[in-house]
Amino acid sequence: MVPSQSKYPIAALLLLFSVFIGSCRCQYQPTWESIDSRPLPEWYDQAKFGIFVHWGVFSVPSFGSEWFWWYWKNQKLTPYVDFMRQNYPPDFQYADFAPQFTAEFFNAKQWTEIFAASGAKYVVLTTKHHEGFTLWGSKYSWNWNAVDVGPQRDLVGEVADAIRANSALRLGLYHSLFEWFHPLFLQDAANVFKTREFPMTKSLPELYEIVNKYQPEVLWSDGDGNAPDTYWNSTGFLAWLYNESPVRKTVVTNDRWGLNSMCKHGGYYTCTDRYNPGHLLNHKWENCMTIDQKSWGYRRNAELKDYLTIEQLVATLVETVSCGGNLLMNVGPTHDGRIAPIFEERLRQMGQWLSVNGEAIYNTSAWRAQNDTIFPGVWYTWKPETKDIYAVFLQWPTKGTVNLNVPVVFNNTEVVLLGYAQPLKWIALKTGLTVYLPTLSVSQMPCFWAWTLKLTGAN
Ligand SMILES: *[C@@H]1O[C@H](CO)[C@@H](O)[C@H](O)[C@H]1NC(C)=O
Ligand SMILES: *[C@@H]1O[C@H](CO)[C@@H](O)[C@H](O)[C@H]1NC(C)=O
Ligand SMILES: *[C@@H]1O[C@H](CO)[C@@H](O)[C@H](O)[C@H]1NC(C)=O
Ligand SMILES: *[C@@H]1O[C@H](CO)[C@@H](O)[C@H](O)[C@H]1NC(C)=O
Repeated sequence: MVPSQSKYPIAALLLLFSVFIGSCRCQYQPTWESIDSRPLPEWYDQAKFGIFVHWGVFSVPSFGSEWFWWYWKNQKLTPYVDFMRQNYPPDFQYADFAPQFTAEFFNAKQWTEIFAASGAKYVVLTTKHHEGFTLWGSKYSWNWNAVDVGPQRDLVGEVADAIRANSALRLGLYHSLFEWFHPLFLQDAANVFKTREFPMTKSLPELYEIVNKYQPEVLWSDGDGNAPDTYWNSTGFLAWLYNESPVRKTVVTNDRWGLNSMCKHGGYYTCTDRYNPGHLLNHKWENCMTIDQKSWGYRRNAELKDYLTIEQLVATLVETVSCGGNLLMNVGPTHDGRIAPIFEERLRQMGQWLSVNGEAIYNTSAWRAQNDTIFPGVWYTWKPETKDIYAVFLQWPTKGTVNLNVPVVFNNTEVVLLGYAQPLKWIALKTGLTVYLPTLSVSQMPCFWAWTLKLTGAN
């Protein structure tokens, strides 16, 4: 519709008004309706792959799980109770582990080099897990932080500086809302969360502190402690984060902001740990999972079979991205600050695979089909701008051909294997196509673990 002459002043006024609204820092209201309406900053969907790092006092016993304290003192699980009885004096407290959190081999630049080599685009560090120990010198965590006790270093600051110095990576910070044994949290819980001493004096001040100080572009919230988002003042905090914080333009956050907010409110969805639905979701999501299947924190008692293989990890990445998710893959550093060679190897392998197949992962979108309808182990992504379709197959077929049932081919369709120069021969099937793979020796293979067919001129 063309506005008539007389309506121009009104149009101009409307324009002025919308410019004003657009620059107003109070765009988002402290309601879920408003918070949930914020579009997710684009970089996050393009990134596809991040590294999760679980590090804390639990890395000292490095036994069982990062839930060590809880399993030992609250659940009184036999393996934990026995472990303590057999290895520590009877009066040994969990807090006594903190001075042994030494981090003498911790080198943030070295970590960053390994993370970047994995092909990840962001790194999410636990700044405080449910144990409450802060990896930065929080004003709100007196004598229970890494500057006062243990390493006597600002671990968050060192990681933040090193990550920021690498243009390939963005910084993410994990923060647990609740703390298992914090007296104020326990008191609020006893009052059925009618009092809010803990969030007002502890968790919220900490959140403002880490956002202002370290300016994370991912804020990964966790641990609602069965308290509702109104107890945590989550919408009020998120309105500040989105309207006024120094990272308001680029920050993304997840969905763990109170009881029942998961998979429903906030930024991207995590839904559960290791969430991998195998089908497309109509909301951006993230599969957070860990290479050591039994723990997020480092475990000295892990066995080789507990670690996912690179084949499994690549398959998880491919499935996740095909279904519209990002993969957040976890490693647990040791108490002395090392990333164990088993984790380092997996990370570098992932990067090796992505250096050939990254075109099928980064900056892609979910296609109209996520996996092949007939042939198993084939996962699709695509690029809407070019209409290029990527079909990642997880097994190299012994018969030398790959059948793709979903794509519609034309006489100008071209098929290439990423990392291999010549276009491949293909023939049309009644639906889809058969692709003839080249015969390659091991040393000629562009990559291992999974391979990508790129289809141009197909639908
Ligand atoms: C709690 O949320 C309200 C808005 O609902 C906001 O005005 C207030 O500043 C928030 N308080 C804290 C400590 O975040
Ligand atoms: C993805 O797209 C963004 C924005 O266009 C660009 O800056 C970035 O380099 C791309 N990333 C890759 C890996 O292609
Ligand atoms: C692949 O897609 C079909 C639907 O076309 C679905 O029924 C099936 O579960 C999927 N397979 C896997 C392994 O996700
Ligand atoms: C491709 O097919 C169309 C019709 O299906 C035909 O008109 C055209 O000439 C063909 N092009 C080539 C290069 O064979």
